[in-house]
Amino acid sequence: MEEFVACTNANIALIKYWGKRDEFLMLPTKTSLSVGLDALKTTTKVQFSDFDKIFINEQEVQGEAQIKVLKFLHVFRKKFKIDKFFLVDSVNNFPTASGLASSASGLAALAKGLNELCSLNLDFKELSILARRGSGSAARSIWGGFVLWHKGVSLDGSDSFAEQIFKSVHWPEFKIIVVVVQESKKIISSTQAMQITVKTCKIYNDWVRNSERRIRQMIDAIVDKNLEKVGELAQLDCLDMHETMRTSTPAINYWTDKTIKIIELVNKLRAGGIQCYFTIDAGPNVKILTLEKHQDQILSELKNIEDIKTIVSGVSGD
Ligand code: PMV
Repeated sequence: MEEFVACTNANIALIKYWGKRDEFLMLPTKTSLSVGLDALKTTTKVQFSDFDKIFINEQEVQGEAQIKVLKFLHVFRKKFKIDKFFLVDSVNNFPTASGLASSASGLAALAKGLNELCSLNLDFKELSILARRGSGSAARSIWGGFVLWHKGVSLDGSDSFAEQIFKSVHWPEFKIIVVVVQESKKIISSTQAMQITVKTCKIYNDWVRNSERRIRQMIDAIVDKNLEKVGELAQLDCLDMHETMRTSTPAINYWTDKTIKIIELVNKLRAGGIQCYFTIDAGPNVKILTLEKHQDQILSELKNIEDIKTIVSGVSGD
């Protein structure tokens, strides 16, 4: 039986995506900018089957994750007029669905795998548009390196795709320490949380405006390999995004006491002269942005905090 294996990396946004302007086409309210993580990988095998069957980490999936993938397969069949069912077997080398961007790398790998299996010859722009229909941030995981996802303006979503702006070789010293404080599923899916925020948060439009403005500044900071600037912008954008969640009705909070502990440690280390900054997505885990030369010292400080795991990552290639 013919099968294809695709491999992609997770990404974390330095300037975030939070909220859709079109739920069906998965069109974002704003442009976002991310970095791919070479240590966080999804490997997905796809083959034709009598009916759709989805395995994640060797377990047949049910519930929300299953619905997400089934919906995507439905969109895929319709878009490319393919009358086939698929067996999808996806393995993450990192915790799934706890805000570590597993849906980004998962749906991007699936899009790449289906492209091969069905011999569609889609280019990276088309793959990004396809992956976006599975999970917004998946549009960015088609690429490695530093990636920009254009929000686009067209109603059909044809200009809402991601593209690479810098390869990993541009900044090999840039490191991300992923601090896993909790491996369980998120308290609320990002899809639902975004809907609540867009609908009810009174400061949401301010964040969108400010965050859009930070894109240009972030690109300049990456050009200059200026960690201080990159870190400050990323931290600010993350804090503002979480503030939109907290001021929604009902209020949404992904952080735990451990999240705050890690934030305090990062702030303390930075005050002591170690260049490090944090960013947090839809979950309690923290990603520390730093440079290779500070990595060991940060890891040794993190050893004093109980029950956490750390994954050190560079920028993903290609
Ligand atoms: O693509 P989703 O639905 O997993 O949303 C991702 C949202 C954030 O991770 C919080 C921000 C981002 O830009 O990745």
